[in-house]
Amino acid sequence: MKIAVIQGPNLNMLGIREKHIYGPMSLEQIHEQLKASADQNNVELEFFQSNLEGEIVDRIQECLGEVDGIIINPAAYSHTSIAIKDALSAVNLPVVEVHISNIYKREEFRQKSITASASTGVISGFGPFGYHLGLISLMQMITEIKA
Ligand code: DQA
Repeated sequence: MKIAVIQGPNLNMLGIREKHIYGPMSLEQIHEQLKASADQNNVELEFFQSNLEGEIVDRIQECLGEVDGIIINPAAYSHTSIAIKDALSAVNLPVVEVHISNIYKREEFRQKSITASASTGVISGFGPFGYHLGLISLMQMITEIKA
């Protein structure tokens, strides 16, 4: 089983940016921990981070026929990007959208996710552990699809 992990803008700044909201872990550390649990489950992860909307669209399109599912944190693009939503709909793969913070108890402009409407499910507010929850949920979904 192969899963793409796609990280949106400013997530390369984790561990530096707004630690009171996103915590002290760097993106690299989050990915290391996620890889450790994926390894235990014989899941291959492909990591990608970009600050550019078009690059994220390209990466999602490349997932077609390459991976079994997508874990994505579109970050600020969640609230603005019809292009990322359309790319997710186009590839028609199981998708878990992860937000480190609970977007529903933050500013009003963060409380709507456009991309979530193309996701199978959303995890929000559990810190970096949300990526593990995303992995577990996606593995289950993919197993059910393949059965
Ligand atoms: C975020 C929430 C977004 O509103 C914000 O723009 C981010 C990170 C999260 O993981 O909590 O960059 O997606």
